[in-house]
Amino acid sequence: MSYTSHNTENPTEKTARLVAKGQQYYVPNYRPREMILDRGEGARVFDLEGKDYIDLGSGIAVCGLGHHQQQLKQAAVDQLDKLWHTSNIFYTEPPILLAEALVRAAPFAERVYLCNSGAEANEAAIKLCRKYAADQGRSPEQRNIITFKGSFHGRTLATVTATAQPKYQEGFEPLPGGFVYCDQFNDEAAIRALVDENTCAILVEPVQGEGGVVPAKPGFLKLLRELCDEVGALLVVDEIQCGMMRTGDMFAHMIDGIAPDVMTLAKALGGGLPIGAMLVGPKAAETLQFGSHGSTFGGNPVMAAVALKSVELLQDEKIAKNVPMRAEQLREALIAINDKYQCFSDIRGRGLMIGAELSEAYQTKAGDISELARQAGVLVLVAGPNVCRFLPPLSITEAEMSEGLQRFEHALQQFIAANKPE
Ligand SMILES: Cc1ncc(COP(=O)(O)O)c(C=O)c1O
Repeated sequence: MSYTSHNTENPTEKTARLVAKGQQYYVPNYRPREMILDRGEGARVFDLEGKDYIDLGSGIAVCGLGHHQQQLKQAAVDQLDKLWHTSNIFYTEPPILLAEALVRAAPFAERVYLCNSGAEANEAAIKLCRKYAADQGRSPEQRNIITFKGSFHGRTLATVTATAQPKYQEGFEPLPGGFVYCDQFNDEAAIRALVDENTCAILVEPVQGEGGVVPAKPGFLKLLRELCDEVGALLVVDEIQCGMMRTGDMFAHMIDGIAPDVMTLAKALGGGLPIGAMLVGPKAAETLQFGSHGSTFGGNPVMAAVALKSVELLQDEKIAKNVPMRAEQLREALIAINDKYQCFSDIRGRGLMIGAELSEAYQTKAGDISELARQAGVLVLVAGPNVCRFLPPLSITEAEMSEGLQRFEHALQQFIAANKPE
């Protein structure tokens, strides 16, 4: 039986056939749009029928350098031509160079653990914090990790427990213990009241992503640093979504001038290939000793070769210049759209990580807008039911951004026409 050759089919028929199979064979945990994306170029992706979409989501903050980036491709091809996989019993060159490049890019860091995804990077960080506390002689009851309402840290059992949003946890109980939730992100009194001698770590996104694109207030990370120091806890920054130049800084926490103890990365690190990393500063650099943690694919040489190139290109001044210019373009366009339609109650974020919160009249409709946008040829994400989330490639051109935003406005006009407030 052949799974591939249907030579007489036209693209529309092929699309329908594949979508039907996806719906039949996938575990229904996702609800992909009814198209088949087939190729990409820069900030544009194309479906099987040849229709193009401006990608203002970068595959959820992954393709920071756009699609089909030739230097990333070459890095993969060069490594594919040599060696695809060994295991962590042996050294290969790309992950060693990647670890070095990451330590150079993040001044606080001394050592790196490589894995395959964001959840895995956070899982490693959670284990590291617990082990660090254990090594200090703390009992399991004294190894609490504090996270914030609205946070998102992944879908494994420990990371979904760290994720302080009940909707992601419901039905998966019993959840692992030792997580404490701070009811308000950015609230100094609330976090002060929670940190005590049983706290072994605070885990925080410098800009909350899934939780609605909410940046930490200036000074908030500094306070977290101080509170951790007071009780001997580790400060862990989850920069899986907001790191790698997304905010205009290589890492989002840098704006506050703090040194975390641990930082987790994934998404844009691999430019589109799966890789995650945990970077560790001096306090806990020796915590995970031989045999304490590991991953078969972690630090795979092909992924690492691409990530190494991606780290290099993201630090190029072209990106450093482009992010603030495109961020201004995006913000101004959203403000202008809002002046016309009064559809947003807030436009917020940092750099090319922008959330537009829907005004009262259009609450819960972000998903509808995202689908209309797709039909109009632009991919826009949501962050919860009320926020349209924009995470365009950091390399997006002025023309691509402008075309994407025109398509978005068109979709919004259709949405408003169909959802006129009484
Ligand atoms: C801040 C943050 N942490 C962790 C994760 C989980 O990453 P992954 O989906 O690669 O496991 C995500 C994914 O959206 C994220 O945005």
